[in-house]
Amino acid sequence: MVRSRIGIVGIVGIASALFAAVSPAALAPSAAGAAGCAPSVPSSCALREVAALAGIRIGATAEAAETTDTAYSTVLAREFGSLTPENAMKWYAIQPSRGSYSFSAADTVVDYAVANGMEVRGHTLVWAQDTYTPNWVKAISDPTDLRSVVQDHITTVVNRYEDRVHRWDVVNEPLASFGTGLSSSVYWTLGAGWIADAFADAHAADPTAELWLNEYGSDWVPGKHAALLALVSDLVADGVPIDGVGIQTHRLPNQTLDVVAFAEQLRDFTDLGLEVAVTELDVPTAPTDAAAFAKQAVEYGKVVDACLAVADCTEVTTWGVTDASTWLDGLGTFPTPTRPLLFDTAYAAKPAYDTVRARLAAAAVTGRTAPGAPTVTGVTAGNARATVAFTPATAGTFADLSYTASCASTNGGATGEVTAAGSPIVVTGLTNARTYRCRVAATNLAGTGAQSALSAPVALPTTPGGPGTPTAVPGAQAATVTWTAPLTNGGVAVTGYVVTPTRNGVVQAARSFASTATTQVVTGLTNLATYTFTVAAVNPVGTGAASTASAAITVGVPVAPTTVRAVAASGQATVTWSAPTANGGSPLTSYLVTPIRNGTALPAVTVNAPTTSRLFTGLTNGAAYAFRVAARNAVGAGPVSNPMAPVVVGTAKVPTAPGAPPAVPGDARAVLFWAEPTSSGSASITAYTVTPYLGGVALAPRTFAAGVAPIVTGLVNGQTYSFAVRAVNAVGPGPWSTVGPAVAVGAPGSPRTVTAVAGTKTATVSWLPPLTANGAAVTGYVVTPFVAGVARPPRTFDASATSRVITGLTTGVSYTFAVQAVNVRGTGPRSPASAAVVVG
Ligand code: XIL
Repeated sequence: MVRSRIGIVGIVGIASALFAAVSPAALAPSAAGAAGCAPSVPSSCALREVAALAGIRIGATAEAAETTDTAYSTVLAREFGSLTPENAMKWYAIQPSRGSYSFSAADTVVDYAVANGMEVRGHTLVWAQDTYTPNWVKAISDPTDLRSVVQDHITTVVNRYEDRVHRWDVVNEPLASFGTGLSSSVYWTLGAGWIADAFADAHAADPTAELWLNEYGSDWVPGKHAALLALVSDLVADGVPIDGVGIQTHRLPNQTLDVVAFAEQLRDFTDLGLEVAVTELDVPTAPTDAAAFAKQAVEYGKVVDACLAVADCTEVTTWGVTDASTWLDGLGTFPTPTRPLLFDTAYAAKPAYDTVRARLAAAAVTGRTAPGAPTVTGVTAGNARATVAFTPATAGTFADLSYTASCASTNGGATGEVTAAGSPIVVTGLTNARTYRCRVAATNLAGTGAQSALSAPVALPTTPGGPGTPTAVPGAQAATVTWTAPLTNGGVAVTGYVVTPTRNGVVQAARSFASTATTQVVTGLTNLATYTFTVAAVNPVGTGAASTASAAITVGVPVAPTTVRAVAASGQATVTWSAPTANGGSPLTSYLVTPIRNGTALPAVTVNAPTTSRLFTGLTNGAAYAFRVAARNAVGAGPVSNPMAPVVVGTAKVPTAPGAPPAVPGDARAVLFWAEPTSSGSASITAYTVTPYLGGVALAPRTFAAGVAPIVTGLVNGQTYSFAVRAVNAVGPGPWSTVGPAVAVGAPGSPRTVTAVAGTKTATVSWLPPLTANGAAVTGYVVTPFVAGVARPPRTFDASATSRVITGLTTGVSYTFAVQAVNVRGTGPRSPASAAVVVG
């Protein structure tokens, strides 16, 4: 069967263009219109000209008499490229009695169409409405007789017009007008195959003709579209030679078409491989409505848009030309005048005409296609969601776009898809802690366009990291717990914290705080019980890892006094301390001071608060005394102070020398460490004095109070320093330590987490970069192998890669490896060594 899908329609009167089949590509918007018609200027075109450029037929009806009516025929031929005989080809008109054919009216219409370069939709061979079936046909009760009558009628009519009519409504209205059942009582006496037989008859009579089934009301009668689709699907499945489905589209007054749903109905038929057409469009108006023509134009535009949006919708035919001759005014159903057509009674174009022409012209210029692909400009991860931002697609003819963003996980998360009017689209239902890539496609009436490129992967949030180790301060049946926020919030803001007390080793009920404050009072605790606390941060994803536990506190009693110091003389020592920083929720009453002589505790002495010193007499000269202090309140005694370095009672003595201080380089500074003096002398150490050396020259000393971190600032990056230190007590300064190892200030910190994997005479050593490069980027690393703790020649690598193969090792020997980072200032301190590996 020839599928002359799109008949080109030449300008009026050029019959030579008739029925030439052209490919849709030949009708691309760039194709020139007829002389004078530029679709970018719709007013320069007749409907049939822009319709042809849009790849569609625009049709109307005529009765024989109308083809000779000057006004009617002029507008008809000028504007429409397809002609449907309104009544002249119906059975009652063409074979009013058995065997007696009357072709003159049909001939007139067909001849007129040919003369005016119009295609003809042959309407209709069998109209399955009993009302319109001739009485003589209705009188036939013998199925065999009726079958031959139907076959004869179809064959005779199709044969007669074989050269001039290439498209037939073979069966019209097989379904009940306002229902979903079958319409005819006459033809169904032939049995279920009568529709297939009618198509077979038409096909046999003209194998090149397009054969259509035409139906009323499927656009609005409830359930009728589904019934029609089922009927047509069965015909297609049975191999019936059907080419298209005509949707009459006689609208009711005041209906509002759902253009998307209507386009979907049309597409249901093209999805079966058929063409579809709007074959009998009229839109009656309420006669008293002043705005009627504007509304009517909108409805016309929607019908035309729906057809344009469906690739194989090939025709829109209006059921008449002018409001003067519409069948609806004579139907007796609607208030008259119904004014349902494109031209008014004076043949002037109505607003609906302008709209139809404008829509056809738009399709001629911008095509009948789905939108282009949008461009994703960014995807932002949120809690179980991704917000997808994009730039719009090119819309084409159908500007009413929606966008569908879809996100799929690359590692097992749930897929999400959300449709919205524009950017951004929040795609929900995703899985936290999974990675996603998202894309967007635009949809218009013609369908969904190409997908955008996939976005870069985005990670959805996880639970927060662990907060810093909390501190806890006792109160009355309570504790104030303070922590630092986690370094990572998991990708979405922290909303609160969970504090979990552990009492005497038993985990207690967790307390939740819906606040981002990093200090909270935990109540409901038991006085005199010992608690530790862990803290976990909460974000919308969930509760993160717990911190390490706080130091233990005893609830309800004061914390320990601090800076317990003693100054000894002959036979005596004066002890001083600082009051505790927290009283446990009730006022301090006293202190319990315990002397410890040569490591053995002596009986404790009570000192009433607020006094914070005590002279102990009667002590043994030459013995070493330390003291510990606990504070009391009404609830009880708190924990004892930290151990202090003992002082020697007797003659005045300065402290012994501390150990030589190693230094860790910082940015223009160094942090020192040293071993405490073995003896603080006859008094507690109150301070340390540090002397920096640069190139062996002593610089100005710095003094640090005891307990203060010895950070030597004001150093010059890239210079190499070493340090000596001495301790000071109430008697005076002790001797200097020896000078510690030199360090390049400003060199990077130590690499971390060094691992080694043995190979054959090699090992692959990997590490993490130092936490700080001290202000100058790491430029290389030095890897030192150790055998039995003895350093072997180091290997230097002038690049920041953190995994290196160390060659030249000895098979069977156990090695460890330490790594130093290098920057422009120098080489930093060694990392801790890797675990030992035995080289193969
Ligand atoms: C109508 C004509 O317009 C009227 O003049 C006639 O009286 C009845 O038929 N569905 C069809 C068309 O398929 O053939 C009908 O035409 C309208 C409804």
